[in-house]
Amino acid sequence: MIAATAPIPAIRLGNGVAIDMPVLLAPMAGVTDGVFRGLCREAGAGYATTEFARDEALLRGVRQQLDLTDLHVDRRPVGVQIFGADPETMRRAAAGVMATVAPDVLDINMGCPAPKVTNGQGGSSLLRDPDRAVAIMRAVVAEVAPAPATVKIRVGWDDPHRDSGIAVDLARRLEDAGARMITVHGRTRQQRYEGLACWDTIAAVAEAVAVPVIGNGDVQSPADVLHRLRTSGCAGVAIGRGARGRPWLFGQIAAAVRGEPVPPDPELPARLALGLEHVRRQVAYEIACLDADPANERKARATIEGLADGRALGHLLPHVMWYVWGAPGANEARRVLSKARTAVELGDILADYAAHPEAYHRREDAREVPARAESPATGA
Ligand SMILES: Cc1cc2nc3c(=O)[nH]c(=O)nc-3n(C[C@H](O)[C@H](O)[C@H](O)COP(=O)(O)O)c2cc1C
Repeated sequence: MIAATAPIPAIRLGNGVAIDMPVLLAPMAGVTDGVFRGLCREAGAGYATTEFARDEALLRGVRQQLDLTDLHVDRRPVGVQIFGADPETMRRAAAGVMATVAPDVLDINMGCPAPKVTNGQGGSSLLRDPDRAVAIMRAVVAEVAPAPATVKIRVGWDDPHRDSGIAVDLARRLEDAGARMITVHGRTRQQRYEGLACWDTIAAVAEAVAVPVIGNGDVQSPADVLHRLRTSGCAGVAIGRGARGRPWLFGQIAAAVRGEPVPPDPELPARLALGLEHVRRQVAYEIACLDADPANERKARATIEGLADGRALGHLLPHVMWYVWGAPGANEARRVLSKARTAVELGDILADYAAHPEAYHRREDAREVPARAESPATGA
């Protein structure tokens, strides 16, 4: 528990790994890539892991999955998250990750609700197969030691399963198997990402185990963080959707946790400047990745830059949409952004919107674009 003015205890995972700010970026596939993780860590997030990568695909050398584990622009400490259903395959995949990218922490996903994951008995289906979950934990812990292995779970498969106390039972067993930190997403598998997270169950897990527990679900503001840190018994909290398009949220939260005045939300020009910086970093990231690949050695600079631009576009599009969300003229800006064919065009549009926001507002009025209900914080 933390009082706003008390010194902030670091979360210690062993092997010298310490998380100094107890507010983490929750992994989100397709969102929390290396560049976004970097922006959140610079803003004040204490820690991040990669989005999950499939164990078998890593072992087969599937490029797209290996790329998910790239840490070359990450701040340390950083974790790599993997998922799978077979202890030996998970052990071998963990060994491969440690040997190639040497994360500070190896995290196991036991929370993903997607049928393509749970049908293969990975992700949240492990909540219903605790023996298998524990065997995976033990195998990975032994493989990555002395580096810490951690795990992310949900509170149950469905409401009755949650109410049976599965999260507490499983967390105790995972701790016994060597997990050094347990993140608990307070929704059931049946809820997917809807409805409210059950913080009572998260608190029960935090009470039941000695290792640090990170609570997760519905945390979107400095006030939410302070409330959860004070009342749940968790060592930290993780923020997922609330961080989309708002890396600065971590700076606001870090200030609140330290008992300092919370900076206001940035105005549109600062948000767009951050969007432009995001575009610049993503393109630079892709160029660095292409340059590091010997297959591209003979390619001309212009070819590399063109390839990098195309790769960056896919990563950037959702982010730039989130950066502009809610601002006057944002619907028009989003309409124009959605037509961009290159990352350079995305940057040009953001710069144009920053220079002439009133023009976007006027065009939006003229078009009578219907207001969109979607917000980046809820994804609803
Ligand atoms: C688009 C999306 C992708 C996600 N991908 C992952 C993932 O790769 N690994 C993981 O452990 N959780 C994943 N999650 C779950 C989040 O980490 C988090 O537990 C969940 O969004 C609840 O937190 P929130 O209410 O703050 O969003 C994902 C969530 C979303 C919305």
